[in-house]
Amino acid sequence: MQALSCTRCPLHETRTQVVFGRGNPAASIVLVGEGPGRDEDREGRPFVGAAGQLLDKILAAVGLGEEDVFITNTVLCRPPGNRVPLPAELDTCRVHLEAILRAIDPPIVVLLGATALKAFFGPKAGITAMRGQRLERDGRAFYPTFHPAALLRDPSRKRPVWRDFQRIAADGRLIQVAAAQGDATGSPSPAPDDGESR
Ligand code: URA
Repeated sequence: MQALSCTRCPLHETRTQVVFGRGNPAASIVLVGEGPGRDEDREGRPFVGAAGQLLDKILAAVGLGEEDVFITNTVLCRPPGNRVPLPAELDTCRVHLEAILRAIDPPIVVLLGATALKAFFGPKAGITAMRGQRLERDGRAFYPTFHPAALLRDPSRKRPVWRDFQRIAADGRLIQVAAAQGDATGSPSPAPDDGESR
């Protein structure tokens, strides 16, 4: 796998290893975070630190396990000091993210936080305004929601994220049922009215 020996951007100089992803490479839901942190860089798996533990709890609460999702990041190497990836790093790593999406071909992509949202929808896309929406592009549905690390900093964001994941899980189940019945369209659930700004 080319990504595992990538030297296309300067992040390779400071990484311990490439953090490719975890979960099921045949999942219908792919989650994209920001970038590996210290724990992920050491272990070689995304979302294994405090934010990852919270993410796993949220997924479990809506009935999703590691067999139902594939989890990766906008950049596959740790930015030094856990800083936000630079636009040039995002651009360079895009080739790997796109290859992952092509290989898995998920109908649902969950964008965890501002960096993942901007990586797909441009620098003007704002997570507070856009979370809770369901955005169609290239035959996939994108669901921006807050990053689990943001929930650790501000627990008042847990409720809207919980609703986002309930909807994501429900849409994932609908798609699976539709696929089993040979109906590729699978109507998505309506957005829950939770009074949050979208
Ligand atoms: N935060 C991320 O965005 N990705 C990880 O893999 C871990 C923490």
